Amino acid sequence: MAAILEVQQVYTSYGLSQVLFGVSLEVAAGECVCLVGRNGVGKTTTMRSIMGLTPARQGHVVWKGRDITRREPYEIAGLGIGFVPEDRRIFADLTVWENLDVAARRPRGDGRESQGWTLERVFDLFPKLRELVARQGGHLSGGEQQMLTIARTLMGNPELLLLDEPSEGLAPLVVDHLKDQNEGTARAFREDESIRAQYLAL
Ligand SMILES: Nc1ncnc2c1ncn2[C@@H]1O[C@H](COP(=O)(O)OP(=O)(O)OP(=O)(O)O)[C@@H](O)[C@H]1O
Ligand SMILES: [Mg+2]
Repeated sequence: MAAILEVQQVYTSYGLSQVLFGVSLEVAAGECVCLVGRNGVGKTTTMRSIMGLTPARQGHVVWKGRDITRREPYEIAGLGIGFVPEDRRIFADLTVWENLDVAARRPRGDGRESQGWTLERVFDLFPKLRELVARQGGHLSGGEQQMLTIARTLMGNPELLLLDEPSEGLAPLVVDHLKDQNEGTARAFREDESIRAQYLAL
């Protein structure tokens, strides 16, 4: 299977502190890749390098054959890579509905809307959010904020999803539900091609 994301020999540092030393990985269409490693080893930094938040000093990030190594994060998001950061970053003053609405973006490709993520679909994934639709983001619990962060990223209809510690703060039952959904989703996406891969870091 051809890779849609290629991380090639990436070196990243924070100031003088070098964190990544030649990281390479590939994600193929429909594939789920997990990045595992002990605390502080550079999993989050790898994702930040892919997203352009902490750009690689050396090496390349290639998305569908295009070099995106030093592109701005908003451009990279616009090209179809969604990022669920560890620190959530929801809009505290906006309601749940507003947080989701600002992130909504039509699916890429042939524009068959039925195949993309909609409010109804993310509420089916996280029924709790349907009950909280009018509540301000800042008033949600940690686990509810995690659901909202994942839901918000899905509303952007990414082709590749980077999840940094996706189960953080979620009840075991919700995690199981999410895993089931992801398996179903991955299969569905292989069929409808609207999202081609998921990239998970736990
Ligand atoms: N903004 C920063 N400035 C300086 N050093 C940083 C910064 N962010 C992370 N680091 C350092 O970079 C290293 C890698 O951190 P990173 O967050 O990528 O690890 P991680 O693998 O995601 O760890 P964890 O499993 O704890 O989430 C750590 O030593 C960390 O202290
Ligand atoms: Mg991390």
